[in-house]
Amino acid sequence: MKTRLLPIMLLSLMLAGGCAEGWTSEERALIENQPAVMRVLTVEDDADLKVLRTPCRDLSMRELADPLYASLAAKLVATVTSPEQDGVGIAGPQVGLSRNVIAVQRFDKEGEPFEVYPNIRIVATRGEPEPGQEGCLSVPGRRGEVLRWHDIDICYTSTETGQEVTERVEGFTAVIFQHETDHLKGILYTDKTLAGSQDTKSQNTQEMNTNESLKEVVGRTNFGPNHALVTTPQPCVMIATWDKDHTPDVMMAAWAGQYDSNEIVISLSKHKTTANLEQTGAFTVSFADIHTVAESDYFGLVSGNDVPDKVAKVGFTVTPSPNVDAPIINEYPLTLECKVVSWEDGILVGKVVNMSAAERILTDGKVDLAKLQPIVFDAASMSYRAIGEIVGKAWGAGKVFTE
Ligand SMILES: Cc1cc2nc3c(=O)[nH]c(=O)nc-3n(C[C@H](O)[C@H](O)[C@H](O)COP(=O)(O)O)c2cc1C
Repeated sequence: MKTRLLPIMLLSLMLAGGCAEGWTSEERALIENQPAVMRVLTVEDDADLKVLRTPCRDLSMRELADPLYASLAAKLVATVTSPEQDGVGIAGPQVGLSRNVIAVQRFDKEGEPFEVYPNIRIVATRGEPEPGQEGCLSVPGRRGEVLRWHDIDICYTSTETGQEVTERVEGFTAVIFQHETDHLKGILYTDKTLAGSQDTKSQNTQEMNTNESLKEVVGRTNFGPNHALVTTPQPCVMIATWDKDHTPDVMMAAWAGQYDSNEIVISLSKHKTTANLEQTGAFTVSFADIHTVAESDYFGLVSGNDVPDKVAKVGFTVTPSPNVDAPIINEYPLTLECKVVSWEDGILVGKVVNMSAAERILTDGKVDLAKLQPIVFDAASMSYRAIGEIVGKAWGAGKVFTE
């Protein structure tokens, strides 16, 4: 743990400098009245959830100089390291404070100390995000797979100098910083879990990981259920919606399939897209192709909550669907216009009211996948693949066994 008291001179300078308002009486009472190990808020309580969803305010120099901050910093570390929590990071909202402060275990430093960071944000990411399992003290008993960068820059206020410090962080510690700074924006890891991995009960996960109870067939390797490529390869469908300002948003979804002859089913976590379709009751679904790999992946990497207009960012354009209240992305040549049938427990069912296709992917008036060149998601290699040649007729190739 590395929480440092401010030198007296710096303190006076900061106070003389004139600052934003100090800690509120409620905040002071919350910090002072709790034992060293504070109560951790959880999503299971409605009032707690409200706090966990509230974006945080930065700490002024005056607030940082107040001994109350040092007390909070010490309590954050005592809480996250307590045997009942045994975590690797904790953020202000998790102890009931909508303030920009986190404690993180620095696995990248000798002795793996816990350190406390006020006014922190991620200012740069490098490379590609990678999936990894996460849990959260505020989401008890659950785990899920989230994409995170392993090479980032953080920026925070030094309590020693009062200056902004930028630091490069790599590896698992970088993942913790991203998880905790999300808390400061009211974001929970469950908002970002890759569908199919979401909300796995950790107890079950442990049971499932114990592959000892599974029997093996000679010549085959058991991976257990957690590594199952449940339906592989998966389609790469692009779900487009209008937000409340009529700005288009689009996201990638691979956990999608046919539900009925004209219905689609998609397994979704909560995203800007789902908030949008709750409002409009509609969405369009297009198919990513080999010409739009980077753009389509980008639509799966970043949220419209963080980027004002994802569609414009990649230079794509939209046409309002004439049939449902949703945009058609012009650069995707095949699109389903859908109305929401149901959206419950992370499962979206949509009725296809129309399918439209650009002329360039038609042969003899029919959709030609050789021209569409859709991509599929390969969960085994976490990559996209093009599809290959026709290798047999459906409801036909098997006839050799019926004759
Ligand atoms: C290959 C890939 C597949 C994805 N599949 C799904 C999915 O099936 N369900 C889901 O909820 N999110 C899925 N995502 C994540 C969303 O696309 C992502 O969180 C996106 O940023 C949400 O955007 P929005 O907040 O603007 O709606 C996938 C992402 C990628 C890269």
